[in-house]
Amino acid sequence: MNNIEGKVESRKAIQPPKKFVKQANITSKKIYEKAAKNPPAFWAEQAKHLSWFKPWKKVLQWKAPYAKWFVGGKINAAYNCLDRFLGTPTQNKAAIIWEGEPGDSRTLTYHQLHAEVCKFANVLKGLGVKKGDRVIVYMPMVPELAITLLSCARIGAVHSVVFGGFSSEALRDRIQDASAKVVVTASGGFRRGSVIQLKKNVDASLEHCPTVEKVVVVNRAMDPTQVPLKEGRDFWWHRLMEDASAKCPAEPMDSEDMLFTLYTSGTTGKPKGIVHTTAGYLLGANLTTRWIFDLKDSDVYWCTADIGWVTGHSYIVYGPLSNGATVVMYEGTPDYPEKDRFWRIIEKYGVTIFYTAPTAIRTFMKWGEEFPKRRDLSSLRLLGSVGEPINPEAWMWYYEFIGRKNCPVADTWWQTETGSILISPLPGITPMKPGSATWTMPGIKAEILDEKGKQVPSGSGGYLVLTHPWPSMMRGIFNDPERYQKQYWDKFPGKYFTGDGAKQDKDGFFWLLGRIDDVMNVSGHRISTMEVESALVDHHAVAEAAVVGKNHDIKGQAIAAFVTLKEGFKGTDGNEMIGVLKKHVADKIGALARPDDIHFTAELPKTRSGKIMRRLLRDIAEGRALGDTTTLADPSVVASLKQKYEETEG
Ligand code: WTA
Repeated sequence: MNNIEGKVESRKAIQPPKKFVKQANITSKKIYEKAAKNPPAFWAEQAKHLSWFKPWKKVLQWKAPYAKWFVGGKINAAYNCLDRFLGTPTQNKAAIIWEGEPGDSRTLTYHQLHAEVCKFANVLKGLGVKKGDRVIVYMPMVPELAITLLSCARIGAVHSVVFGGFSSEALRDRIQDASAKVVVTASGGFRRGSVIQLKKNVDASLEHCPTVEKVVVVNRAMDPTQVPLKEGRDFWWHRLMEDASAKCPAEPMDSEDMLFTLYTSGTTGKPKGIVHTTAGYLLGANLTTRWIFDLKDSDVYWCTADIGWVTGHSYIVYGPLSNGATVVMYEGTPDYPEKDRFWRIIEKYGVTIFYTAPTAIRTFMKWGEEFPKRRDLSSLRLLGSVGEPINPEAWMWYYEFIGRKNCPVADTWWQTETGSILISPLPGITPMKPGSATWTMPGIKAEILDEKGKQVPSGSGGYLVLTHPWPSMMRGIFNDPERYQKQYWDKFPGKYFTGDGAKQDKDGFFWLLGRIDDVMNVSGHRISTMEVESALVDHHAVAEAAVVGKNHDIKGQAIAAFVTLKEGFKGTDGNEMIGVLKKHVADKIGALARPDDIHFTAELPKTRSGKIMRRLLRDIAEGRALGDTTTLADPSVVASLKQKYEETEG
């Protein structure tokens, strides 16, 4: 656990700006007490904000580790994001303002988005997609991506988005695990002026995916005549849409029908398909967006995440759209064509709420204030942060240079598994401490436990657990109930284990300390050490590999790999083998998993029972004195490795 607290706990809390407080949606702290008294009753009251086809009979049925929320209710997530605004003033409001990387843009009103979704829902039906079928979505950040999610939701198909930065092999694994019937993709996507050929990756993965019957391809970023389509399998999006009807009633879904799966990294090499169901997930996304982002009708809301991650699911698509908000969606990176692109977008569209990641904020800090200063950011009234612990310095910079001390900063903690934000300030009432995600949301109960499951005293670090079920919690791992039980519920029976370390200070503020398992957080992306290790040992020259995350100023964590080569292969620091192995990992998983450092070693430090001691490797990579080495089979291995590391890193 990296220790970010200590010096900051003593810092005085910052009160939300007065001007903000005056207009905030939530103004009374009583909401916390009320929710805590009877969480199911609280959730039931909040669920009335959604549109139901049929009310639920029972709010919660809980038999750990399985929860059912709003049992017997019928609801549709796409209906809640679209149809319920038809015939209201929201109908002609912008739902999505999209900006492409090259500067092209498109606006879809709620009326138009509804029509597009109905049409594509009919297209999916025409391709044979039925309720419960899995649809893999592998796309750049274009409006069709949001349309696809909502179209699946409309007909009860289960979407499973794979981030466009994943390689064809990673895509293949996910398609196979989901046994998907249809893939929706694009010919390509822009990335800093060059083109990523997504359809080409799909073609490569489909050689090993017999379940996939049809592929829909959005025409983007490439000359369409240069994109081969396989007869009978592949179809252009625009061709299919030409003849599609814009009439498609939303399917009444059971509250507990699956809405989507999303693959995320766990502590083994195999990614897990996190399952979310309809009503509870939607409630979590809807309520947290409204409260934490203090949504008003006039807001222009921008979350910079990619829809390939859960943040994009909950806080670009389902949360804001189910509140009738105007959402900005951007295809590219913050530094293209120049390092002020984000600030230009805020100025151009008058963005009022801005939600991004600490790794981005630290990058902006490094680039300097001159870039935000070039642009008019006065429209901003609220800032958010997500994905990893935000260090107090980055928090203060964000608050000062982007928010001009006028905007509360919501540091929001949550996970793919939790579906929606669970720890965050409510910006009108919660005092802020830079670096702390503050308090649990109303209705959420968390504890910090020691190894034995006892609550630690205030100020001590421990395991963060959630002690009560909440509506948007995951319902399992797709096709793997055992892993669900083992990963999340066995360590502290009856309590949900988050995999994160945390401390709580004397005022009850939560300080997140990072992952305490073998999951790394690199630029806010979750990557398992085991996934990278498997990719490395898959190379014919590699005998053994151990991977650890090491602290990094910008990325939060960087990937350090320790590799033993097979007999006959030569690895010296700086030789070409390093480049070969880095590329190999990028090809196997995606560029996001490319190791930052690779170190060759004749042996890896192991316990007598043969377990690799990653803890010691982390000590080496982070330049610390070695921790306890008494359990090692051969302590000289780690000592010489440390010495060699220090020599090469200088
Ligand atoms: C980390 C992203 C500290 C945490 C929404 C968690 C955070 C993992 C924060 C989930 C935060 C996310 N402060 N740590 N505000 N937000 N994390 O599934 O380690 O991609 O377990 O979901 O990110 O990552 P995931």
